[in-house]
Amino acid sequence: MKTVLIAAMASKNRVIGNSGALPWHLPEDLANFKSLTTGKTVLMGRKTFESLPEKFRPLPNRRNVVISRSDFSGPGFETFASPESALSELKKDGVAEAYVIGGSQIYAEFLNRGLADEIWVSLVNGEYLGDAFFPVFEKEYEAYSRTPFQAFEFVRYRKK
Ligand SMILES: NC(=O)c1ccc[n+]([C@@H]2O[C@H](COP(=O)([O-])OP(=O)(O)OC[C@H]3O[C@@H](n4cnc5c(N)ncnc54)[C@H](OP(=O)(O)O)[C@@H]3O)[C@@H](O)[C@H]2O)c1
Repeated sequence: MKTVLIAAMASKNRVIGNSGALPWHLPEDLANFKSLTTGKTVLMGRKTFESLPEKFRPLPNRRNVVISRSDFSGPGFETFASPESALSELKKDGVAEAYVIGGSQIYAEFLNRGLADEIWVSLVNGEYLGDAFFPVFEKEYEAYSRTPFQAFEFVRYRKK
């Protein structure tokens, strides 16, 4: 199984979130995210799940997996108590690609444990005000594809 971290990050200061929400409104990025993850499995921290607009919670047409240490459950998603337990269940089910969609804590957990095969980032031009950041990963990963969009560049990195 391939595990991909997918995020949108401010190119100048690594911000990914502000007060529990995205710092920007980028329809092109949301459309790109939707086309890449539809029909796939998405993993996220409990806070990111709760930050999704009600209409998109759980994310439609995707297997939604939430990671939480608490007793957090509801319709349309599964909950696991750790990244490892979530991944082992997905492997058992024969899932080919798992997309880790945030937030800050969950990205850091996957990176610190060496669980990310690839990182796909929308590098949003400029600097944003925020309180959630994407961890530094550039020493261990190399860019292998770059796609320009109007307000961001979509870059795919793989482990060196
Ligand atoms: N720009 C982007 O691409 C992007 C993507 C996603 C999110 N975001 C932003 O990021 C922010 C949210 O990030 P965040 O770091 O605050 O929260 P988060 O990573 O979404 O969720 C944190 C929660 O995940 C659970 N968790 C974390 N590590 C765990 C572990 N090892 N084992 C079990 N459970 C674990 C805990 O849930 P419990 O407390 O329930 O135990 C923890 O409170 C928001 O502003 C959001 O908008 C941005």
